[in-house]
Amino acid sequence: MARILIVYSTVDGHTREICNRLRGIIEAQGHQVTLKPLAETADADLEPCDRIVVGASIRYGKHRPALVEFIQRNAAVLNRKPSAFFSVNVVARKPGKNRPDTNPYVRKLLRKIAWRPGEVAVFAGKIDYPRYSAVDRMVIRFIMWLTGGPTDPKAVVEFTDWREVEAFGSLIARM
Ligand SMILES: Cc1cc2nc3c(=O)[nH]c(=O)nc-3n(C[C@H](O)[C@H](O)[C@H](O)COP(=O)(O)O)c2cc1C
Repeated sequence: MARILIVYSTVDGHTREICNRLRGIIEAQGHQVTLKPLAETADADLEPCDRIVVGASIRYGKHRPALVEFIQRNAAVLNRKPSAFFSVNVVARKPGKNRPDTNPYVRKLLRKIAWRPGEVAVFAGKIDYPRYSAVDRMVIRFIMWLTGGPTDPKAVVEFTDWREVEAFGSLIARM
């Protein structure tokens, strides 16, 4: 049995939902999983774990600066243990941008950081217009209009392929 820490950075909770699905899969394989939001994770939490998973969503073209700082600060311990990273964004709903090596946000992050996660994934996220502020709704609807996505201001659309999430969970359980 391995002790696996999953650290996540979310704004609207979808990355946390993905983490919950991962936890279910990994625990079913007999491992112990701790799920923690990035803001509540101390650097000292990493050392006692056998494996570390980090998941984060994209907002306005970027992973949050606190995520990048966390990774850079802890690159040595992250590189020393079996580890995995996943990104959540809606660009990943596009067939040509749905893999770590074709998703622009994952490519950019991996170029920037000193951590080399053993496993990397990218999952298409969720659009939830009713949840957004008026400004965010307007901007995201405009981007969706430009890129052929949903524009109905009442739309809630989940692009996530949960079978892919589950397959990633199985991979982490075997890592
Ligand atoms: C204000 C806002 C900005 C976003 N910007 C981007 C973006 O630049 N690129 C992208 O692919 N997805 C973008 N998204 C989509 C989110 O990545 C997607 O909704 C994801 O599921 C959010 O995950 P979270 O709930 O864990 O934060 C944006 C969403 C919002 C609400």
